Amino acid sequence: MRVAIIGAGPSGMAQMRAFEAASRAGEEIPEFVCFEKQSDWGGQWNYTWRTGLDEHGEPVHSSMYRNLWSNGPKEVLEFADYTFDEHFGRPISSYPPRPVLWDYISGRVEKSGVRQHVRFSTVVRWVDYDDAAEQFTVTSEDLPSGTTTSETFDRVIVGVGHFSFPRMPDFDGIETFPGRVMHAHDFRGAEDLAGRDLLVIGSSYSAEDIGSQAHKMGARSVTASYRTAPMGYEWPDGFEEKPLVLRFEGSTAHFADGTSREFDAVVMCTGYLHKYPFLPDDLALDSPNNVYPAGLYKGVVWQRNPHLFYLGAQDQWLTFNMFDAQAWFVRDLILGKIEMPPAEERQADIDTWLARFEAIETVADEVRFQVEYTGELIEATDYPMFDLEEVIEIFLAWKRDKKDDIMGYRDRTYRSVMTGTIAATHHTRWVDELDDSIARYLAPVPTDAVGAGAPRAPR
Ligand SMILES: Cc1cc2nc3c(=O)[nH]c(=O)nc-3n(C[C@H](O)[C@H](O)[C@H](O)COP(=O)(O)OP(=O)(O)OC[C@H]3O[C@@H](n4cnc5c(N)ncnc54)[C@H](O)[C@@H]3O)c2cc1C
Ligand SMILES: NC(=O)c1ccc[n+]([C@@H]2O[C@H](COP(=O)([O-])OP(=O)(O)OC[C@H]3O[C@@H](n4cnc5c(N)ncnc54)[C@H](OP(=O)(O)O)[C@@H]3O)[C@@H](O)[C@H]2O)c1
Repeated sequence: MRVAIIGAGPSGMAQMRAFEAASRAGEEIPEFVCFEKQSDWGGQWNYTWRTGLDEHGEPVHSSMYRNLWSNGPKEVLEFADYTFDEHFGRPISSYPPRPVLWDYISGRVEKSGVRQHVRFSTVVRWVDYDDAAEQFTVTSEDLPSGTTTSETFDRVIVGVGHFSFPRMPDFDGIETFPGRVMHAHDFRGAEDLAGRDLLVIGSSYSAEDIGSQAHKMGARSVTASYRTAPMGYEWPDGFEEKPLVLRFEGSTAHFADGTSREFDAVVMCTGYLHKYPFLPDDLALDSPNNVYPAGLYKGVVWQRNPHLFYLGAQDQWLTFNMFDAQAWFVRDLILGKIEMPPAEERQADIDTWLARFEAIETVADEVRFQVEYTGELIEATDYPMFDLEEVIEIFLAWKRDKKDDIMGYRDRTYRSVMTGTIAATHHTRWVDELDDSIARYLAPVPTDAVGAGAPRAPR
C-alpha cells in the first residue's frame, strides 16, 4: 500500500503525525510520500514576502502577512497530543503571532522525525485514477530541476488548503482607480498605509483583520464595505462600515447608501475559491466556503471515490485539532481499523450531516456543529479526547471579547482545555506591539513593553 499526501501544511503534517503515531505504537503503516511545493512545511503559516508567482513561477500559496497574529485563541486549536506547555515549556499568551504558531506546529513533526517523508519544492501537477487497477497515478514536478515523475499510489490525501486562490469581484469603473487595488491574498503589510485612506471590501475575517492592521499601522481612515451584513464591532475613530460599493470614479467609491468617499488603496477581502488544478473534475471538490462541503463522507472521504480523501476542506472554526481528528480518522480507514461503509450508507451519513448543516441559524450553532463533527471523528480513533463543551465555551467567550473590544481582544487570556494552564498575559498590548518576532515574543518583559494591564480572569 502506498499513500500520497498532497501538501505539508497543518493538514498534511497532521496526517504524517497520525501515521507516525501508529507506527510508534507498533502498527504496520503504509509507505507514504508527502508532496510539498514550497521549500518548507507549514502551509499558510510558512510566510513569504513574495506575491503573485514564486521563484519557480508557481502561484504563491500563502495569504498570510508579516504582522499576522492568531485571530482565535490558541486554546481552541491546541493539539491534544502535543500541548503548548510541552513545546514552550511555560505558559504563553492566548493569541500568538504567526512565527510562534509556526514554531509550535513544526515542533511536533520535527519531534516525530517525519521530515524524511516530504518531497519539498515538488508540486503535484496531475492525479489520475485507473478504475481497473484501483490506483492513482500522481505526476509531480521537482521545481528546481524541472524533472517530472509519475508514480502510482493506492490512496491519495489532498491537504492543499482552500485559502490561496482569490475570489476577485469586478466593480464598475474600478479600472479608473489610480491607487493600489489588490486581493487580501497579496497583502503583506500595512506600513505603507500610514496616513492614507483604505477601503476594504468584505465583512469577514480578512476585512476585519486587514482593516485593524491598517488602523494599527496609522492609516488615516479605514472603511469596510459589506455586501450582506456589517461586522458590527465598535470600531475606533477613523474606522467605519458602509454598504457595498456600487461603482468607482477615479479614486472615489460610491456606496449603496448614496454616500461616496475618496480612497488611496483598495483591498478585496472577498474570500477564496476551492480550486484543485491537479485534479480532474470527477475528483475535485467544488464548494462554497462552508462547514460541510457536499460530497465528503465524514467531511473527509470523497464519496465518488473513497480512495481519495480531503483534509481541512471545511471553513474553519477549529483548525489544528480538527485536522488531527480528520487525519487520525483517515489513517484508520486506510489501515482498515475503521470499516469503509458502502456508498449508500456513506450517503445516508452525509445526508444526516447536511440536514444538520442546513438547520444552522446562528454563529453558536455553527461552532457547535463543527466541534461535534470533530468529536465524532475523535471518538472513532485513539486521538486523545478533550472537553468539547469547554472548547465551545471558549469560542463564545472569544466572540464576546471581540464585541467588547475589537482592538483589544488579543490581550485576553483563556485556560487550556488540554492542560488547565492559564495563558500568560503578553508583555505588550497587541495594538502597541510592532515587532512580531518569536524572539521578542518570548523575551522577558522588554524595557519598552507597553503593559497589557492587569491579567484578566481566564474564561
Ligand atoms: C490569511 C489567513 C490567516 C489565517 N489565520 C489563522 C489563524 O489565526 N488561526 C487559525 O487557526 N487558522 C488560520 N487560518 C486558517 C488556515 O487555513 C489553517 O490554519 C491552516 O493553515 C490550514 O492548513 P492546511 O494544511 O489545510 O492548508 P494550508 O495551510 O493552505 O497548506 C496547504 C499546503 O499545500 C501545499 N500545496 C498546495 N498545492 C500543492 C500542489 N499542487 N502540490 C504540492 N503541494 C501543494 C501548499 O504549498 C501548502 O504548504 C488562516 C488562513 C488565512 C488564509
Ligand atoms: N489570523 C487572522 O487574523 C486572519 C486574518 C485573515 C483571514 N483569516 C482566515 O482566513 C480565512 C478566510 O477568510 P476571508 O475573510 O478571507 O474569507 P471568507 O471568510 O470566506 O469571507 C469572504 C467575504 O467576502 C465577501 N464577499 C465575497 N464576494 C463578494 C463580493 N462580490 N462583493 C462583496 N463582498 C464579497 C463575503 O461577503 P458575504 O457575507 O456577503 O458573502 C465575506 O464577507 C478564514 O479562515 C479566516 O479565519 C485569519
